[in-house]
Amino acid sequence: FDGMTIVELAKRTGEHVAALQDILINVGESVGSEFDPLSIDIAELIAMEVGASVKRIHTSEGAQILPRPPVVTVMGHVDHGKTSLLDALRQTSVAAKEAGGITQHLGAFVVSMPSGASITFLDTPGHAAFSAMRARGAAVTDIVVLVVAADDGVMPQTLEAVAHAKAANVPIVVAVNKCDKPAANAERVKIQLASEGLLLEEMGGDIQVVEVSAIKKTGLDNLEEALLLQAELMNLKSRVDGPAQAYVVEARLDKGRGPLATAIVKAGTLVCGQHVVVGSEWGRIRAIRDMMGTLTERATPAMPVEIEGLKGLPMAGDDIIVVQSEERARMLSAGRKKKFEKDRLLKISDGAEALKELEE
Ligand code: GTP
Ligand code: MG
Repeated sequence: FDGMTIVELAKRTGEHVAALQDILINVGESVGSEFDPLSIDIAELIAMEVGASVKRIHTSEGAQILPRPPVVTVMGHVDHGKTSLLDALRQTSVAAKEAGGITQHLGAFVVSMPSGASITFLDTPGHAAFSAMRARGAAVTDIVVLVVAADDGVMPQTLEAVAHAKAANVPIVVAVNKCDKPAANAERVKIQLASEGLLLEEMGGDIQVVEVSAIKKTGLDNLEEALLLQAELMNLKSRVDGPAQAYVVEARLDKGRGPLATAIVKAGTLVCGQHVVVGSEWGRIRAIRDMMGTLTERATPAMPVEIEGLKGLPMAGDDIIVVQSEERARMLSAGRKKKFEKDRLLKISDGAEALKELEE
């Protein structure tokens, strides 16, 4: 993108240059020459106002592109053991062991293997959260672990999870859970999944199936290995330097510290002190904490962190972008708020129209 002029932007969005200049004046920016390059924030603001979207492309020339850990989401039918499995996996985390327990709830955690590899698990089971994030364009998940209870077998929400993963184009690794139960029948689960069109590895496909017990803590290493193998096939890499492109996984309000957001960086590095726009909120990053609650200066790709310093509470799936100044942050946030409000009102009036038509 970088350095587009208002004339080019007008061409791309199909708007008149004068209309775009009006927007600039509205937000209190100086108009300047038609041929001055626009900053990305201004371009995004203008584009947003006219309903277009701007892709931020950072030149990766000379940038460090490094392998990164996979980000994994656990999904499956109610009561099939998603929470238990996450708890069990969390306990395999070297960091958790070292600290003698879990120090804080972050909405995400990292399991580090003795080999040095690690896996980031998102602690947001629930299909609603997954689809909400996907609907908002937050493609944070690399792999879905599909949990199926060995005694219960494939159930409606199992299939729903499969549909979500397929729609998001995210590969699945199956965890057949509760294998310790006398009524467990892993073979039946596999046949059910295959008959639903899942191409399992042992049947010549590429979906790995691992038998586990979250309660007895068996098969967890196999599951972790399967996830790392899947990640290896995907060759996950991210730009490490440069401005961060990150997403909110979870947000909450703390009485003393204000709005806190759990974030995962997709690319680049988020640095303490930076001005950010998060969804339609803004702020300056006052503190970054890792999953152990330790203060850190920066967050790199796939590392879940908690950020402090936002002026308002963002939503799961919101994007985090770094801007040059507080002024920019305020402006972009105000522009986004206006746009969201407009969309909301449009939706309501659409609904009202539809109702009217129904009544007529
Ligand atoms: P929801 O969040 O309500 O959808 O459930 P969930 O999928 O998170 O399941 P949860 O982990 O809460 O487990 C449901 C029940 O199954 C609990 O009573 C667990 O103790 C039990 N359970 C989970 N994993 C296992 C397992 O491996 N073996 C056995 N025997 N029981 C398990
Ligand atoms: Mg649960």
